[in-house]
Amino acid sequence: MEEAATIAADAVQDSCSLDNYLAQPDHTMDARIAAAREKLGTDVVLLGHHYQRDEVIRFADYTGDSYKLSKIASQTDAKYMIFCGVHFMAETADVLAKPWQQVTLPDLNAGCSMADMAEIGQVENCWDSLERAGLTGNLIPLTYMNSAAAIKAFCGERGGLVCTSSNARGAFEWAFARGEKILFLPDQHLGRNTAFAMGIPLSEMVVWDPYQINGGLAPDRLKAAKVILWKGHCSVHQRFLPEHVDRIRREKPEMQVIVHPECRWEVCQKADAIGSTERIIDVIEKAPAGSSFAVGTEIHLVNRMAKRFAPLGKEVITLDDAGCLCTTMYRISPQHLAWSLENLIAGNVVNRIKVDEDVKHWAKVALDRMLEVKG
Ligand code: 13P
Ligand code: SF4
Repeated sequence: MEEAATIAADAVQDSCSLDNYLAQPDHTMDARIAAAREKLGTDVVLLGHHYQRDEVIRFADYTGDSYKLSKIASQTDAKYMIFCGVHFMAETADVLAKPWQQVTLPDLNAGCSMADMAEIGQVENCWDSLERAGLTGNLIPLTYMNSAAAIKAFCGERGGLVCTSSNARGAFEWAFARGEKILFLPDQHLGRNTAFAMGIPLSEMVVWDPYQINGGLAPDRLKAAKVILWKGHCSVHQRFLPEHVDRIRREKPEMQVIVHPECRWEVCQKADAIGSTERIIDVIEKAPAGSSFAVGTEIHLVNRMAKRFAPLGKEVITLDDAGCLCTTMYRISPQHLAWSLENLIAGNVVNRIKVDEDVKHWAKVALDRMLEVKG
């Protein structure tokens, strides 16, 4: 009897093994995903970031930028949230979830190279150096959503907060209302673009290099700085260059250039508009027929907008000539999604993302502050 039960359990385990799914072509997953979704009903909610590939995002209950998806994660009552995005987004959902909810990430390799550029040990060392220099008394730590939960907690515990690309300016204002200086982690470009737009000159910003002693900065430069930017970047957005904007201006002068704020300052300065993924879509959606846009962001979103807006008489192209792919986001495949869903039906929660309880408290404080800051 016991043996039969073990064999049955093994059979379920075996049919739900990831290798069985990865051996199948993409399109064979569609019917299975749809059937599993139907069976799970309101027990499961699928959250999809705009950079997901079409074969995955079409199954999402909600699509959005990081801000919108974390807001939804904090409000849904579904028992399971499957996050079709990257690791820091799923961690955030877990921090904001109710105690009985569980969050999964279909492929644990879906990380973010920018988030990996700031490790908690490095951030603690940086803070210690700044403390020794007597600079932490009026310093507010502010981290971009694209960071590990431990870094969010670090900021929450020290009177700081989290921001996304859609409310970074509001978060800077929040911080400056409580301190005189900001330590911004981990994306130097978003930090620089936001501070500059608020009228802070580049001469009052410094870049902290975690691989150099004292960040590679002389004490007087640190003392004079209003914003200390962590030396991190997004390898996808950093590939857009000012020359790409110049080429569009030359070859298609009627086109508007709109870029994500993770792009370099030099690119943002030349653009007509800057915005989060959600805002980019919104601007194009509201533009009249006949408008055209060169967009500086991840290629799946650009291609999807090109397809969606072409019948409405709007042209959308990528700002560069090749298109930049977020390879980690791309790791979430229809096979991984089907595997996650069918395992839930079999009673297995695979790839659960669970933030440690001690980190959760302060990370939630920092995220709750973020959710109160308008874009
Ligand atoms: P958004 O919040 O604008 O969607 O950006 C998230 C991200 O990772 C961009 O690289
Ligand atoms: Fe991270 Fe860049 Fe991918 Fe966004 S696009 S998830 S910042 S690597």
